[in-house]
Amino acid sequence: MNGTLFTERRSVGSFDASQSLDREKLKAIVDLAGNAPSAFNLEPWRIIAVGSEEGKERLFERANRQPKIKEAPYDLIIVGDREGYGPQNPAWEELKSLAGEEGAKRSIGAAARLYGSSEERKIKFAESNGGLLAMSLMYAAQAYGVDSHPMSGIDFEGIAEEFGLKEGEHVVMVIALGYRDTSTALRPRRKRKDYETLVEEV
Ligand SMILES: Cc1cc2nc3c(=O)[nH]c(=O)nc-3n(C[C@H](O)[C@H](O)[C@H](O)COP(=O)(O)O)c2cc1C
Repeated sequence: MNGTLFTERRSVGSFDASQSLDREKLKAIVDLAGNAPSAFNLEPWRIIAVGSEEGKERLFERANRQPKIKEAPYDLIIVGDREGYGPQNPAWEELKSLAGEEGAKRSIGAAARLYGSSEERKIKFAESNGGLLAMSLMYAAQAYGVDSHPMSGIDFEGIAEEFGLKEGEHVVMVIALGYRDTSTALRPRRKRKDYETLVEEV
């Protein structure tokens, strides 16, 4: 078992602004990360890849002016769709061809009950699925030798407004991608909960 993908991924803190990230590599990372699981495979998410200086400037102002926003070649705004369980999701069409019209109808009804019955559930739906995409992106980046840093110390509503998110969409987090500034030492890796602390066996 090789677990280095997990032990070597770090939130790198600062990026080498002189190193760009090839757009083809970004695409490969996103395609790989897209293997992330989602409820009913609905993929209730999208990504805004902020790579222009102008875009980064706007994001920086709404991300607590965290310097890594401007240093990193790309900042990915992970957008979750609170309404993504609804019948408008194109994933249901694919399910129709797999499970038939009736089967898909049952799943659409079940998803509406499970994820759409309260505002809290809608948010949970968007956050839980979007969070898995975010983690998948960071490991995919790591697999391609690209560093990352997740951020939620940001103005979620401000970013949503600035980048024109639609009704029902919200910002899950921002992930900076690029190559770490090796002139700055990484902070020591913090302790993690061990099995005994983490797990209640029932
Ligand atoms: C959802 C989330 C939000 C975070 N927000 C920030 C942030 O706004 N600024 C920051 O410097 N680090 C942020 N971090 C990074 C954490 O501090 C970091 O992941 C943690 O200390 C563990 O370090 P490691 O990722 O290097 O293992 C965030 C991490 C996560 C998962």
